[in-house]
Amino acid sequence: MQPDLSRLGELGNTSVVGLQWGDEGKGKIVDLLTKRFDYVIRWNGGSNAGHSVKVGEKKYAFHLLPSGVLRPECVCVLANGVVIDPIQLLREMDDLMSSGLELGENFRISSAAHVVLPYHKLQDQLSETQLAGKKIGTTARGIGPCYADKAGRGNAIRMADLIVENRLREKLPRIIAEKNRLLSGLYAAPPLDWEPIFEQYRSCGQQLKPYVCNSVHMLHEALAAKKRLLFEGANAVLLDLDHGTFPYVTSSNCGSGLSAGTGVPGSAVKSVLGVVKAYSSRVGAGPFPTEQENAIGEKIRQRGHEFGTTTGRPRRCGWIDLVAVRYAARLAGATGLCITLLDVLSTFDTLKMCVGYKIGGREQAGFDPDAEGLACAEPVYEELPGWHEPLDHLSDLAGLPPSARRYLERIAEYVGVPLKLVSVGPDRRQTLVV
Ligand code: IMP
Repeated sequence: MQPDLSRLGELGNTSVVGLQWGDEGKGKIVDLLTKRFDYVIRWNGGSNAGHSVKVGEKKYAFHLLPSGVLRPECVCVLANGVVIDPIQLLREMDDLMSSGLELGENFRISSAAHVVLPYHKLQDQLSETQLAGKKIGTTARGIGPCYADKAGRGNAIRMADLIVENRLREKLPRIIAEKNRLLSGLYAAPPLDWEPIFEQYRSCGQQLKPYVCNSVHMLHEALAAKKRLLFEGANAVLLDLDHGTFPYVTSSNCGSGLSAGTGVPGSAVKSVLGVVKAYSSRVGAGPFPTEQENAIGEKIRQRGHEFGTTTGRPRRCGWIDLVAVRYAARLAGATGLCITLLDVLSTFDTLKMCVGYKIGGREQAGFDPDAEGLACAEPVYEELPGWHEPLDHLSDLAGLPPSARRYLERIAEYVGVPLKLVSVGPDRRQTLVV
């Protein structure tokens, strides 16, 4: 049975945001909601994100394509805030079309989105090797260097440049010459030859050209026509460049950048659904107070298949951290919570929730994302009874064991945001509407 989403009421234009360190299952939530929306818009990050969506027996793993592409009646947009690796994008588009789905008028790319080029990926990898003991643990997809070039302006290439051969030919040789000086000076890297890169990216530009448009104009037309817009956040609030656990963050604003990333004012967004995994996970380096580097963490990792969609890395796992989630919910302006992967917690006798921190023996109110302070934080836990019943067959909240209901209620109560959806498995049908 498909979940009855009409029980959510009128959401208006809606933003879906991850409230932890990513991999909360946003892709499934977006895919579910798309049938109530006309547009699905990605507005931050790039192919560092990994969204898996299961429809029937088929599992899709997207990095750049919005999860909405599985419903052809919906227009999917990569807005100006996204950084686009054209080779990865074309690969995903090919995969999708080979499974019989169409991409035409229903897919649009902002002409102002920045392009990830091979030297960005190289810079990302080389810079990580130099950081030695202080590695960020990036996805090596060139995200940081591409956003750095965006902020630096002089060496940036946008989609509008990629699709016009003369513009690309005018910019690329000069930029690559500068990158060669940088990469050889800093990392003794061999120089890149601009011509094959130009040829490959020129070809990508020509293939992507039919989809490129002024997305700001298009989205404002959609707003004027009272179309329903769904904004798909990538990465998550605790990885936000300004508000996450810096420097162990990504290079975009994942919790607070919707307006800059789309050109749509915040006032146009009525609902913000915060997606929260029933426990915590993190990929890459950085503080993680509730991490369980023991049999509990391993059990969660195995039950939750916690291995990265983008890099395949085993994810670090631990108990849910409500202090961090409440901070993230406030930053994102969450109006409702979607709790995912609740089924993974079946078979624990007791479950722990972090409801405070002690730093240097003193209780600390609230969440301070300062990485050094957080690395010393000792979690204060509340213990709740677990449950042993499997949940993945459920289609109604009433079927949940009382302790699972209590667990959910405590999350909503602590975070101060009402519960809207609960996911108990990857399939669309494994969703309970509150
Ligand atoms: P970058 O975004 O590749 O620069 O990586 C910076 C940090 O963000 C690393 O710790 C990554 O593992 C993490 N990260 C980036 N995107 C995601 C995501 O979608 N899910 C989980 N972690 C992510």
